[in-house]
Amino acid sequence: MTAQRVLIAYGTKNGATAGIAEWIAEELREQGLDTDVRSAASVRDIAAYDAVVLGGGLYAGRWQRDATSFARRHREALAQRPVWLFSSGPLDASASERDIPPARGVSRIADRLDARDHVTFGGSLTEGAQGFIARQILKQGKGGDFRDHEQIRAWAHGIATRLSGSAQPADHG
Ligand SMILES: Cc1cc2nc3c(=O)[nH]c(=O)nc-3n(C[C@H](O)[C@H](O)[C@H](O)COP(=O)(O)O)c2cc1C
Repeated sequence: MTAQRVLIAYGTKNGATAGIAEWIAEELREQGLDTDVRSAASVRDIAAYDAVVLGGGLYAGRWQRDATSFARRHREALAQRPVWLFSSGPLDASASERDIPPARGVSRIADRLDARDHVTFGGSLTEGAQGFIARQILKQGKGGDFRDHEQIRAWAHGIATRLSGSAQPADHG
């Protein structure tokens, strides 16, 4: 049987969300899924994928816009596939300690796409980040890397379990 093919698409400004996407991919590949990781802006067509994981960095309560545009652009195709969503945001340990509900706009996207799940992971903001506010946060000593590798891998493991137990992959022609 051909492996299920999974796309992980991310919208990032400073790279934290891309890193999370890579960790999710590592877990899915270890579980035998054929997995691509791509910047959301670079994906033209998702027809070849059986499932999609979409993540965005949070900026003032919204996803970085490449993630939002991806959801809009591929809305019809996404609605026909299992979709999982994640956000990368809080610059403290809160996301490791409790469930943080999606921001309002992200929640709307989750409803529209009938997403299987959404999770908020801790974010990261470190030296070299772009933007005035980012530099201010760093100057105040409030940056850091709060991405929880174990939590991310465990979430990805759940996706792999669901996909491995599901129907045959689509015919990619
Ligand atoms: C200007 C700015 C606004 C932010 N707004 C939020 C926010 O509304 N909610 C949140 O949880 N994190 C917020 N953060 C933290 C980022 O979401 C976090 O650094 C995230 O991991 C960034 O992802 P990226 O590097 O992939 O762009 C903000 C950071 C900056 C610099």
